[in-house]
Amino acid sequence: MSTAMEIVPLARACGAEVRGVDVRALDDRGFAILHQAWLDHLVLVIPAQRLTDDDLTRFGQRFGVLDELPPVGQGQKPRDNPYISVISNVVENGVPIGGLADDEVIWHSDTSYRERPPSASLLHALELPAWGGNTGFANMYLALETLDPALRQQVDRLSIKNDTTYNAGGQLREGFAPVTDVRNCPGAIHPIVRTHPETRHECLYLGRRRNAYVPGLEVEASETLLDTLWQHATRDVLTWHHTWTIGDVVIWDNRCTMHRRDLFDPTTRRVMHRAQARDDLRPARDASAKNIPHPRGRTVVEALSA
Ligand code: OGA
Ligand code: MN
Repeated sequence: MSTAMEIVPLARACGAEVRGVDVRALDDRGFAILHQAWLDHLVLVIPAQRLTDDDLTRFGQRFGVLDELPPVGQGQKPRDNPYISVISNVVENGVPIGGLADDEVIWHSDTSYRERPPSASLLHALELPAWGGNTGFANMYLALETLDPALRQQVDRLSIKNDTTYNAGGQLREGFAPVTDVRNCPGAIHPIVRTHPETRHECLYLGRRRNAYVPGLEVEASETLLDTLWQHATRDVLTWHHTWTIGDVVIWDNRCTMHRRDLFDPTTRRVMHRAQARDDLRPARDASAKNIPHPRGRTVVEALSA
């Protein structure tokens, strides 16, 4: 089975499609190849899968221990499988079956407001809307490498506080009060430049823009710095956008990418099942790591410096 597997890069910035594989039947050697492809390309698309929640759980567990996910729709019942959550706009009997509704979801890295954020997120497309709902990915190794040198020096020793209060869809999380001062809102503080614990390459780690704050700076200076970083890191040339097909399983690495979602046709259904794996590590800078750029996105660097 693994001999037929093919890894096809998808875009200049990041992403690869894995062809010829049924993830339910992947042996250890096949998984090792797929896992290395994930580290190399940051995001994998595995088309034409038809996974039950238990299949998705088993596959996800190969990336690490899965987080138990609370129901994301407000008032939603606990699910049979605690490792699977639903991302959907569908409302049944007045209760959303999943989270994130049908709006735009802004650039973010999943649950960056936690001390130990998840490494891998897996999303499996079950139903897709008539238009919209593409998911974009930004290569944060590239974002660091192409950062203005003076700016890079400035952020080298700085951190960001990642606000917990709102989700990436902009909705206030249950039990949280609206933010009035970014210096006081709750959330984990992570270094702006981190070393990826598996690839050992450095990347930017920005988390989420809303209510972010750089401790030690005046609020105004923090806002200006963050705006500059975000504008840089989310430029088109550093990103790739996936147009979904039913059956796709997409796996992204939250340690070195950010993602976003376009709004979509609110009158049609989008249903995705989701799992996330953790490495149990705090984002950290490792001074002993080799300081050479991650190889993905060479042509982007060349184009930008030409
Ligand atoms: C997520 C997420 C985007 C999408 O599941 O973490 O941001 O395309 N989803 O639904
Ligand atoms: Mn997300």
